[in-house]
Amino acid sequence: MIENLVTIKQVSAHTGARVTIGAWVHGKRSSGKIAFLQLRDGSGYIQGVVAKNDVSEETWEAAGKLTQESSLYVSGTVKEEPRSASGYELLVDGIEIIQATQEYPITPKEHGVDFLMDHRHLWLRAPKQRAILTIRAEIKRAVNEYFDTNGFTQVDPPILTPTSAEGTTNLFHTKYFDEDAYLTQSGQLYMEAAAMALGKVYSFGPTFRAEKSKTRRHLIEFWMIEPEMAFVDLEQSLRIQEAFVSHVVQSVVSNCRPELETLGRDISKLEAIQAPFPRITYDEAIDFLNKNGFEVPWGEDFGAPHETAIAQEYDRPVFITHYPASIKSFYMKPDPNRPEVVLCADMIAPEGYGEIIGGSQRIDDPELMAQRFEEHNLPLDAYQWYMDLRKYGTVPHSGFGLGLERTVAWICGLEHVRETIAFPRTLYRLYP
Ligand code: 4AD
Ligand code: MG
Repeated sequence: MIENLVTIKQVSAHTGARVTIGAWVHGKRSSGKIAFLQLRDGSGYIQGVVAKNDVSEETWEAAGKLTQESSLYVSGTVKEEPRSASGYELLVDGIEIIQATQEYPITPKEHGVDFLMDHRHLWLRAPKQRAILTIRAEIKRAVNEYFDTNGFTQVDPPILTPTSAEGTTNLFHTKYFDEDAYLTQSGQLYMEAAAMALGKVYSFGPTFRAEKSKTRRHLIEFWMIEPEMAFVDLEQSLRIQEAFVSHVVQSVVSNCRPELETLGRDISKLEAIQAPFPRITYDEAIDFLNKNGFEVPWGEDFGAPHETAIAQEYDRPVFITHYPASIKSFYMKPDPNRPEVVLCADMIAPEGYGEIIGGSQRIDDPELMAQRFEEHNLPLDAYQWYMDLRKYGTVPHSGFGLGLERTVAWICGLEHVRETIAFPRTLYRLYP
């Protein structure tokens, strides 16, 4: 191996010096006496300039053999170049080809999305995909930063579970030796137990839904951030949600400007994402929709077109609160003044990205919880531990779940969630 390789991101610290970089050829242009190599190494991009008259014959020949996605060690002098995007270029004087790649399948011409998805393992190398994965990593960092600096402890709920958390229709079944088991749809119920032990907790991990939905917002495997907070009511939870989401968006704006530019994202739209966020009740949303060309009877859930119509009224995410109990999960606390609605809120992202957060205050009364188990036909024995949380020192508490991929899609301005994760699991795709 070559010692002291410099990454492209580090070249600014080596202006005027000779460095060696491990790289791939992203593209190449040449004009008789000079070759321009578009080089990438994962950390960034730089142009390598090979001048026939200034390099050995061997180096010039090597430059001629380089094809798209060839791998190499390239040596040269770092020069400031204000006209290039990175601000630097490399005056190449040495090339050691690791592999001269033949017929890289993804060429600069247009490919269909199925072809690209079949080659996802290579497509990840494209500048746009690199930008998305970089922003995803920044979002994850900012999520952890927000909770770790605001009194939350990160707790990891199990992925293999004996019961369902969010309804039984979309569970992935597996065997746990002789028992039946399911992949988790949400860590929430376990996070409620953790909140009773640690006060404020959050989880950050993969969740699974065997949903037969083929929409631009659904993945089969997706990542969720699930905070759960003791002694916090719905209103306090909404204030935490808006502060949290603003922090995440502003962190990306501050730390990922080049990546947002690569994606052509309108950054001014992201800069507007500042707490507080507007709130409307489910009833107000129904009124609004029925005045704007929809026909939605009270008691029906909203679909993507409804959410988009509501979101279009605002330049930042909007909370829709107090949905009918009949269309929400069994654990949501009824509004004491109006028990047919629950103390819940969905956060709808702007620009048509739909629901990014679902959350609620939880039922803390043991009798009401027992009643809900009966109404929803849930097996009490399997949830005995969950009932215990209401039996031994129950307290008001609230929580919510943010979908990571929908958040990445919104912040990056992407059409579809399939590009927000390295290897998406969708209805018809398990490969690669
Ligand atoms: O609204 P959901 O189903 O809520 C829960 O699971 C609660 N237990 C969370 C909690 O209170 N701790 O899911 C939460 C979020 C959604 O708002 C959405 O962003 C995302 O998870 N989500 C999906 N993202 C991608 N693909 C899917 N199939 C998704 N289903 C939900
Ligand atoms: Mg939801």
